Amino acid sequence: MNFSIKKICCIGAGYVGGPTMAVFANHCPNIKITVVDINQKRIQAWKSNDPAEFPIFEPQLDELVLNCRDKNLFFTTNLEKSISEADMIFISVNTPTKTKGVGAGKASDLKWVEASARQIAKFSNSHTIVVEKSTLPVKTAETIKKILSGSQENNSGKTEKSFSVLSNPEFLSEGNAINDLENPDRVLIGGDDEKAIDALSEIYSNWVPKNKILKTNIWSSELSKLTANAFLAQRISSINSISALCESTGADINQVKKAIGMDTRIGEKFLSAGPGFGGSCFQKDILNLVYLSSFYQLEEVANYWQGVIDINNWQKSRISRLVVNYLFGNVSEKKIAILGFAFKANTNDTRQSPSINICRDLLEEGAHLSIFDPKVENSKIKDDLQNDLNKIEVVQENGSWEIASSVLDAANGSDAIILLTEWDQFLNIEWNELIKLMRKPAWVFDTRSCIDFKSARKAGFNVWTIGNAPFFNE
Ligand code: UDX
Ligand code: UDX
Repeated sequence: MNFSIKKICCIGAGYVGGPTMAVFANHCPNIKITVVDINQKRIQAWKSNDPAEFPIFEPQLDELVLNCRDKNLFFTTNLEKSISEADMIFISVNTPTKTKGVGAGKASDLKWVEASARQIAKFSNSHTIVVEKSTLPVKTAETIKKILSGSQENNSGKTEKSFSVLSNPEFLSEGNAINDLENPDRVLIGGDDEKAIDALSEIYSNWVPKNKILKTNIWSSELSKLTANAFLAQRISSINSISALCESTGADINQVKKAIGMDTRIGEKFLSAGPGFGGSCFQKDILNLVYLSSFYQLEEVANYWQGVIDINNWQKSRISRLVVNYLFGNVSEKKIAILGFAFKANTNDTRQSPSINICRDLLEEGAHLSIFDPKVENSKIKDDLQNDLNKIEVVQENGSWEIASSVLDAANGSDAIILLTEWDQFLNIEWNELIKLMRKPAWVFDTRSCIDFKSARKAGFNVWTIGNAPFFNE
């Protein structure tokens, strides 16, 4: 029997569930898709008539949602109904790194995945294909299977329910999510039930060429996701480590980047030095690899991947240290403009953003920060700065911070500007105008190497760009 999918439920209306289901709905008008979330506020926001109120900012997302919403794409908090009528259920809930208990700081917290599996077990009615979309530790599918196999009968106790579990990791990169979903490099489907794999593959083949749909066993699929993110993150730690060497030796990181990127074996992508990688996936996925390797007593493997995280943490802290050093070793009561708080451009997401660490370090040094980001909500910045990174304790800060309404507002009266996110609007700043508002000597620290540094120098700034020796005007 071939499964023909008519109704999909997606648990989790976040950065992954929202955009993924919007793209599915646009390509599959005959499938009814319900995105369900326990967070009522989030669901309300998805239903808003004003796309600016959608909970997630992602280029092109609003038109896709508006095109399908209330036709074949629905947002709800009614979990029972959505699960019970679905042929296929995606689990897209968040899986943060555990902060306490066994594996704290390394293993993923699977409590929401487990809760979702239990709800599926409880409310589903007939044969259901369960698809892991969340990034998970290897062998999580087994846990999901065990939970599901505990339930045999439907709500009315008449027909037997059964499940197939598939792994279908997402590779979308925030800010480019719609393009990644529309034109994926590959779609990975892991599982052992061929009919279920075919059913999911059929959905994707509405817009993805068949040769890009890879079918693997479930553990290869799970491990490939972690490995892809670990390799990507490793490139960033590699180039960031070289950025420090460039600064010391007089080499220019952009020249090095170009020279190595032209080697087709290396390739030119993902070679931009920066303030360290952020986002909800890289650190978490590498920590999962470290945990998994240690579990299998492969300490050398665990240490190897831990090194990628260590360099990332070092990169963040070396930036805050060098800012303090260049400002005469003291930032106490100095105003510093922070441009960008999101972990990268084109997203309002701040999870694991290097801006958080760098701001916190400067606050501990007593600086007064004026923070401007074009998309991040003020309340998010507040949460991120007030809670300890591990959310364990609130550290008493010495400095202070405020939200600025524009680049000019942030820079007004400041000693330095630190650019932390490569938003387009920061690329063409009028440095001539800005310097008039600042205390001298005025510094700009460009951690993304994206500003027009020549104009900044000409305007009279001292300029530090990542991976280059500093330039002093005075
Ligand atoms: C995703 C992946 O699922 C995660 O594994 C990956 O590492 C990062 O990306 P994401 O969509 O970014 O997560 O997370 P988030 O934006 O926090 O959305 C998850 C949603 O699930 C939230 O809206 C949350 O309210 C919801 N949720 C969580 C439920 O609906 N039910 C639960 O039991 C738990
Ligand atoms: C990542 C993966 O790319 C995606 O495939 C996966 O499924 C989810 O995790 P995301 O975290 O959204 O996506 O963003 P990504 O573009 O990968 O950037 C991650 C971090 O690396 C950002 O902080 C970014 O600024 C940084 N980065 C990226 C660099 O510092 N230099 C680069 O050259 C590229």
